[in-house]
Amino acid sequence: MTATVYVPGDSAARSVGADDVAHEVARIAASRNEGVGIVRNGSRGMFWLEPLLEVVTPSGRIAYGPVASEDVAGLFEAGLLTGGAHRLCLGPTDEIPYLKKQERLTFARVGITDPLQVAEYEAHGGLAGLRAALGMVPRDIVEEVVRSGLRGRGGAAFSCGIKWRTVLGAEALPKYVVCNADEGDSGTFSDRMIMEGDPFLLLEGMAIAGLAVGATQGFIYLRSEYPDAERTLGLAIAAARAAGLLGDNLLGSGRMFDVEVRRGAGAYICGEETAMLESLEGKRGMVRPKPPLPALEGLFGLPTAVNNVITLASVPAILDKGAQYYANYGMGRSQGTLPFQLAGNIKRGGLVEKAFGITLRELLYDYGGGSASGRPIRAVQVGGPLGAYLPESRFDTPLDYEAFAAAGGMIGHGGVVVFDDTVDMAKMARYAMEFCAIESCGKCTPCRIGSRRGVEVIDQIRAGQKPAANLALLRDLCDTMTHGSLCAMGGLTPAPVLSALHHFPEDFGALPGGKVS
Ligand SMILES: Cc1cc2nc3c(=O)[nH]c(=O)nc-3n(C[C@H](O)[C@H](O)[C@H](O)COP(=O)(O)O)c2cc1C
Ligand code: SF4
Repeated sequence: MTATVYVPGDSAARSVGADDVAHEVARIAASRNEGVGIVRNGSRGMFWLEPLLEVVTPSGRIAYGPVASEDVAGLFEAGLLTGGAHRLCLGPTDEIPYLKKQERLTFARVGITDPLQVAEYEAHGGLAGLRAALGMVPRDIVEEVVRSGLRGRGGAAFSCGIKWRTVLGAEALPKYVVCNADEGDSGTFSDRMIMEGDPFLLLEGMAIAGLAVGATQGFIYLRSEYPDAERTLGLAIAAARAAGLLGDNLLGSGRMFDVEVRRGAGAYICGEETAMLESLEGKRGMVRPKPPLPALEGLFGLPTAVNNVITLASVPAILDKGAQYYANYGMGRSQGTLPFQLAGNIKRGGLVEKAFGITLRELLYDYGGGSASGRPIRAVQVGGPLGAYLPESRFDTPLDYEAFAAAGGMIGHGGVVVFDDTVDMAKMARYAMEFCAIESCGKCTPCRIGSRRGVEVIDQIRAGQKPAANLALLRDLCDTMTHGSLCAMGGLTPAPVLSALHHFPEDFGALPGGKVS
């Protein structure tokens, strides 16, 4: 009898030794003459337990973790292959509270299936959305996505369906689907986990997007620091072509759609959609003024649906189960689920897919278990490097786009970066300006020059030089950047700076409200 053992091949697990564990499982199984089939699955998203090894037993999958290669011999001795008791045994994987309480629509298969087996993808519900879309006219696909309430998961939260409606209505041909997989936000990894853990889901979502807007070619603009995802996507695209999920005869329908991967240029601004299109065209990643919208004049000046990985990966379930099914999750105008990513100083970092409406406090304490250092959590930055810093008084705000914005925050791509009470918030404000200065594309003055001046002014404030005058200057500078920048890079950099000053004035040597006595 051959036992099946899962050892994640995801880069998060590999970075903490999953390859060594997989080799050791194979070596010891061979030395003991025990039949073992090893599947390199995606990560379950519980990073403090990686490498998380699972074994298939008659009563379901049993998890062990975190497993080091030195533990493997002992695990075999303890009866690993039949789910034997061991100090690293976590019981049935599905019963681990962190996983059990999630609402995994987009991540439904991640960690469960072999990411590169199309047959397994299909056996676990894959391709049903594409099949449904192939039986619909483009307008109906678009309207189904509009009704689902799906909003862009890349940051701006614009309605996916309405964007697609614009591309569908554009007259120029050909049209393109471009997947934004640049994933530059600090503390984010959900795009990577999908690409490494369930790549066919993204390809299926892109094919549906192509059918919806009338495009036959898609591109994935992939973050250059994701070599594992690049390799997995390459293999997945080849397997998808062989199985008719991509190519010139989609699932035997006679319809066409194909995908190519393009490696990103390694700059944060290349995630901004117009800079990304420039980069895809082979040019330096500089922001283009809008209008024209990429939906009308995008890649090579042609109509282009630009969407984030998670947006596209959310689409198959909508086509399969219906717009209403998806819209039943969430609250207000934030419908569906979002894979939140817990990072920074947090005990249980990882991926938590939940319906909108969960609070930061639930994420930080019920899932995250508090700070990794054991000290009080002082500040949280949600939504990447351009997101505001929030103090504990905001932790009960529901994570819904509108409610969170009203509380001064931005959900963005769902990254949550945690800081304990040793953080110096004036230093973090300086870092926000410095990041902007380094990553600015340089096209407009408020961002290019303003961010450099911002670093200098914060340095002077931190050194206690003319604090009142310099704080006034900092506010002025932020106002100019907010209102005068061409894109959200310069436009939103003031958010982390001003929120740090507003909520943590003492770190700037100021009084509440940011004033100096
Ligand atoms: C500075 C900057 C960086 C961005 N980086 C990313 C990114 O890495 N990935 C992404 O999907 N969107 C990013 N965006 C948002 C994109 O411009 C765009 O809104 C998004 O790709 C559209 O897809 P969606 O509607 O599915 O979210 C960034 C925006 C800005 C201003
Ligand atoms: S705000 Fe910054 S990144 Fe955006 S266009 Fe201006 S210089 Fe470029």
